[in-house]
Order: sequence, then C-alpha cells, then structure tokens
Amino acid sequence: MSKNLSALSFRKGIEKNVFERMVEAAEATGTAECNDVVHQLGQEHLFGDAVTLGAVSFYDFLKKENAGKKVFVCNGSACLCAGTQKSLQQSLQGHFPAGEIGHICCLGRCHEGGAFQFGGKNYSGQSEAALGELFRTGEGDASDRYEVVSALQPAQLTAEFPGIEAYYAPFKTLIAGGDRDALGAELKASGLRGRGGAGFPLAIKWAGCRSAVGQDKYVVCNADEGDPGAYIDKYLMEQRPHSVLLGMMVAGWYAGASNGILYIRAEYPDSLTVINQAITDLQAAGLLGDNILGSGFSFRLKSIKGAGAYICGEETALLASIEGQRPEVRTRPPFPVQEGLFRKPTIVNNVETFANLHAILTLGGKGYAAIGTPQSSGPKLLSLDSHFAKPGIYEVAMGTPLSEVFALAGGFKTAVKAVQIGGPLGGIVPLAQVERLTVDFESFKQAGFLLGHAGVVSIPEALPMIEYIEHLFQFTADESCGKCFPCRLGSTRGRELVAKARAGEGYKIDRGLIGDLLETMEQTSLCALGGGVPLPIKNALEHFADELSPYFQD
Ligand SMILES: Cc1cc2nc3c(=O)[nH]c(=O)nc-3n(C[C@H](O)[C@H](O)[C@H](O)COP(=O)(O)O)c2cc1C
Ligand code: SF4
Repeated sequence: MSKNLSALSFRKGIEKNVFERMVEAAEATGTAECNDVVHQLGQEHLFGDAVTLGAVSFYDFLKKENAGKKVFVCNGSACLCAGTQKSLQQSLQGHFPAGEIGHICCLGRCHEGGAFQFGGKNYSGQSEAALGELFRTGEGDASDRYEVVSALQPAQLTAEFPGIEAYYAPFKTLIAGGDRDALGAELKASGLRGRGGAGFPLAIKWAGCRSAVGQDKYVVCNADEGDPGAYIDKYLMEQRPHSVLLGMMVAGWYAGASNGILYIRAEYPDSLTVINQAITDLQAAGLLGDNILGSGFSFRLKSIKGAGAYICGEETALLASIEGQRPEVRTRPPFPVQEGLFRKPTIVNNVETFANLHAILTLGGKGYAAIGTPQSSGPKLLSLDSHFAKPGIYEVAMGTPLSEVFALAGGFKTAVKAVQIGGPLGGIVPLAQVERLTVDFESFKQAGFLLGHAGVVSIPEALPMIEYIEHLFQFTADESCGKCFPCRLGSTRGRELVAKARAGEGYKIDRGLIGDLLETMEQTSLCALGGGVPLPIKNALEHFADELSPYFQD
C-alpha cells in the first residue's frame, strides 16, 4: 500500500509536492486538519482522504490542536535544565489567553534558555520588559549570539567562507573531468562516518547509491536536527550554508542524482531563509541547473520545511514525510540507497556530514583522516548549553578529551551533576566520568554512553534526576510514531510509573517491572527512539542510585 502511495507521490514530482501543500494549507489558521484541505489534497494526489488525514493529524504544526496558537514555548531538555520555562510560561500568560500558548520542542537556543517562537521568529533570554515590548509592537530582538570556537589549526567546519568562486573551485575541478572511482577511493580513505548519530561510513553509503540501478536518484539532507541541546546543524545552515550545499552537490555528481532536497525543521526559520538564499546565489553563479558549466552534470536543490515531528529525523520517516505519507518508520532493508525517496535510490546524510566534503576535496582522503582517530576521523562540532561559562559551538578533532572541550568553554557557571550528550537518546554522563571520555564514537560506546550528534545538555544539581527521567519518557511518548507497541505503549507506561512515584502518595516503582519495560523497549523497538531511550534511563539508575532510591522499592 505505502509503495503505491510513494508511486502516486512521485507522479507529481517534488515541485510543490503534497507535503509542502499541507504545510502551506496550515499557514493561515495553524492547522491543515480540516475537511476541505484533507479532501482536496487527497483527491488531487489520488491518495484518498484517510491517507491525507493520517498525515496532517500527525504533525504538531498541522493538527487541529494547533489552530489559533500564537506563541510557542520550548519544552526541550536544555530549556528544562536552564530552569527558565516556568517563569516564561507565567509571563506569557499575562499576554495571551491559555488557548493561544502552545509548545514547541527545541528551537536551538540551548545556549541561552528561555526560548519561544512568536510570529514565526525565535527568541530567547528576553527580559520582562522586552517581552512586553515585543507583544505590544511585534518588534523584538531575535538575534542569536553564541561562541564559535575552533581548536583546529586551520579550522575546517568553522573556517571563514571565502566566497562562492573560491569555495566551489574544487567542485568545479571535480565535475570538469573528475573520476568517480578516484573520488570513491578518497572517500574511503577519509574514513568519514555520518554525524547524524549512528556513525555509518559515508563511502559505503554513497557507493551503494552509485551502484543502485535506476534513472532517478536523490540526495536528501537530513536537517531535522530534533535533539534538544543540539544546534550544530543550525549553526552550519545559518553561518556556513555553502558547506552543506557543496557536500550535497558532490553526492549528486558521484551517485548520478539530479535532485537534492534539504528537509529543514520548521523550528529553524532562519536556517530556511539562509539556505534558500544560498541556493539562489548558486543558481546565479551558474552552479545549479542543467549541464552545470558545460560538464554534463545537472543538479537542482530545494528546501522543504518540516512541520514539528521529532521522528522525521529518522531517515525513513523523513522520506515518508516528503512523500506526504504519515511519517512512520519503515523497516530496513531495503535501505534508502536502494529504495529511498519515492522508492528510488537515495543518499540521506546529516547536515554536518555533508559539511565535511569540502575538507575531503581539499585535503584529500588521507589528509582528512589525519585529523581525528583511526576509527573516528575528521573534525567534530559540539554544541554546549547555557550552563557553560561560554556556551556555543566548539570544533575539535575527533579523539579530543571531552574535558578539554569543557575547559575551552570556560567550564560550568552553575552547579551541574551530569551531562546528557547526543540528545534524548544519548547517555547521561555523571561529571565524574567526563574525564574518561574522548570525543569519538568508540570512547563513548566503551564507557556505556553514546556520542550521537554531540549536543550537550547539562543537568544541574537543582534538577531532580527523577524529573529528568520523567521528561525523557514523556518526550518519547510525545514523539513516538506509534508504529511499534514497545515504544508507543512502553514510553507512556514508563512515564506513568515515574509520575506516580513522584506524586508522593507512597507509591514506589518495582525495579523488576521497570527493568522489564526498559529491556523490552531496547530489544524490540523498531527504531532507535523506543530502542534508544532506555540507555540514558539506565545510566541515571546506575549513576544516581542514591538520589533515586526513595522512588523505588528496596
Ligand atoms: C529517532 C531518531 C531521530 C533521528 N534524528 C536525526 C536528526 O535529527 N538528524 C540526523 O541527521 N539524523 C537523525 N537520525 C539518524 C537518521 O536516521 C540517519 O541515520 C542519518 O540521517 C544518516 O545520516 P548520516 O549517515 O550522515 O549520519 C535519527 C534517528 C532516529 C532513530
Ligand atoms: S520505536 Fe517508536 S518511533 Fe521507532 S518505529 Fe517504533 S513506535 Fe515508531
């Protein structure tokens, strides 16, 4: 069934595709979940109303509960840990009726806290007076300031952009007569592994798409950075957009794809604006379109705005989303390089992964691999939250001690007991363990944690760990795609157990019961949302046993 829907979606192509039309339909009222829209899109795309309704009712910014909302308060982990959101919510209640205040999960303002979206713009760290002024006049300071520091000499991902002419010179050389096999060898030698969390080798993925049979192939940039605490992709898109676009263009040339799509989360309005402008600039420079610079290579780029669903960061859900289907995770195999967007061969990579291609082209595979460790090569960006003295984006070589990164950021300015690294599915690292870790996939794995995408959320002493555990279960319950029951039910049951124990009415959690629940989620969930959240919860149970013991039966 869903294969047929992919084929129907493909018939209409990617120009103004059905998902974009759903998003557009919600612009005026805040929802696309109304009979007219559902019926019209269902008919036009031959999906039928049930399929269209199934899709629009999934997304935070399309479903009917979103209608009439005017201001959205961030409820992500970093803002929770910043301790800013309760008072922000109270302030907003002085300006808006309760029905106009909604929630949003992570605006990438983790370096400041107090984040919210109003009038399509993101704000953070606003004083009472500034809030009053903003809501009275519609004008406010939406600027987004944070440190950007590179420990590399020379900087790579954070290097100054020298202009289109100079930056795309290696790409021009490539398409003017480069050898795809030779590029494949450089990619392999570079050892680059995906930065979206799983660390899959890029050379294998790209070669898989290149060798896949099919006329139509796609390159998709996963810019749905939903991990609270991570604003690495946001930084790259807003401040180094060409690094991302160049990486996608190289992928297209190598694999024989002629269309690239950036799926950018709606929570990042500035990223959309900057990327769209960069695409326009590339078109003007003759670097996109048919037969680019007479090379015979044709490539187009476009962005698609998401609609508020964490699971769309999972690559198969993301592809289903673009096709206008309900974004439920698909089983693999087939992998996207075999059957991806519209069931055509597709490369899906993270924003930061694509941003590494310029360094590989200029340094060569071996030169690139000289940065980092043998198993985890290259530079890595980390984003640090508002508990650090100098929050921001830090670029280091893979293998750098984590404590060095924290020292670069001036250490903590508040009392912190643990850090969660790699998003809500990443490990909870007690401060005493930070010394053991280096910034690479192996070190984190060996220590029982996960590097993931490397956003860092600091859990302050003042925040009870039991509250944080409930937050993680709640997040999973809110964001579960619902396809498999261990995640769909397990996250909700887990949250209920914790909430009941926190209610202070004498209920204590049975250790065997929660152990079974976590084990079931970990072993039997279809994807790493349900399968991943047991890790941080187990870390917390192990490393904060004393603090948590009052909530558990002996
Ligand atoms: C629940 C879930 C959420 C994810 N979110 C993201 C995301 O926001 N960005 C991302 O690049 N990858 C995310 N991933 C990983 C993608 O599925 C996929 O592995 C990645 O985009 C591949 O790119 P890479 O090889 O460059 O890392 C997520 C995975 C899961 C299971
Ligand atoms: S683990 Fe959760 S998010 Fe992943 S497929 Fe199952 S229900 Fe969907």
